[in-house]
Amino acid sequence: MQLLDGKALSKKIEQNVSEGVKKLREKSGIVPGLAVILVGHDEASKAYVGMKKKACDRVGFYSVTHEMPDDISQEAIENTIKMMNNNPNINGILVQLPLPKHIDTTKLLELVDPSKDVDGFHPYNVGRLTTGLDGFVPCTPLGVMELLAEYGIDVKGKNCCVVGASNIVGKPMASLLLNANATVEICHIFTDDLKKHTLNADMIFVGAGVINLIKEDMVKEGAIIIDIGINRAADGRLVGDVDFDNVSSKCSYITPVPGGVGPMTIAMLLSNTLKAAQVAAKESR
Ligand code: GUN
Repeated sequence: MQLLDGKALSKKIEQNVSEGVKKLREKSGIVPGLAVILVGHDEASKAYVGMKKKACDRVGFYSVTHEMPDDISQEAIENTIKMMNNNPNINGILVQLPLPKHIDTTKLLELVDPSKDVDGFHPYNVGRLTTGLDGFVPCTPLGVMELLAEYGIDVKGKNCCVVGASNIVGKPMASLLLNANATVEICHIFTDDLKKHTLNADMIFVGAGVINLIKEDMVKEGAIIIDIGINRAADGRLVGDVDFDNVSSKCSYITPVPGGVGPMTIAMLLSNTLKAAQVAAKESR
């Protein structure tokens, strides 16, 4: 069994992004800028946004966080997005999810300028991804593909089982795998007999948010396991969706939690934001 080390790869990517920032600044005077909208006091969201801000600082981006109270109006968030769409110093806009119940998330995501949609959540970019065209791809599944590439793992022709069908992880993960010529199954909360599907898989990608969802008897000998879950265990530890201690001895590769997919998500956000700034720089010439 070999660990897929997302922490190490994310450091390498950060280094490359830092160099890209320097080059862009020297060539065109542009400093990539990221705007984050954070609504409410969800502790996990706050922690993620804090990590994203620190990563921006490390690579030399300009970044701004718009913190808003739980009871903020739809209109006020929309106005902030419109302002960021029109701000030439901002190349990437990220609305941290989930949002409070009274907010229409879809409407907000549709308002983000697709050329600044570094999360890849706008239907325009979702459509480009499913069609196999270049565009912004959601950071977590994009990070998984980078991690596989780093270890020379080709998904072509492999039976890939994606567990969890969210718009943020499962669906774009499945699209990326399909675009790379894998055979893809998507399992979700209504799937009957999950084990039947996972046992048949050469590779399992799980982002369901359920501790120990994937157990030893659900995994084929030599399978590759990508754990996209981040959960807080009763004892306070961060754990994924896979029963790591029992599953790891059975598989060929596995991502640890923490230190697997998590750091890759942030690295891809940096990479997407740099890409947005590079395109903006070309267009302003
Ligand atoms: N909430 C959980 N993951 C993500 C993500 O990748 N982007 C945003 N904007 N919100 C999230």
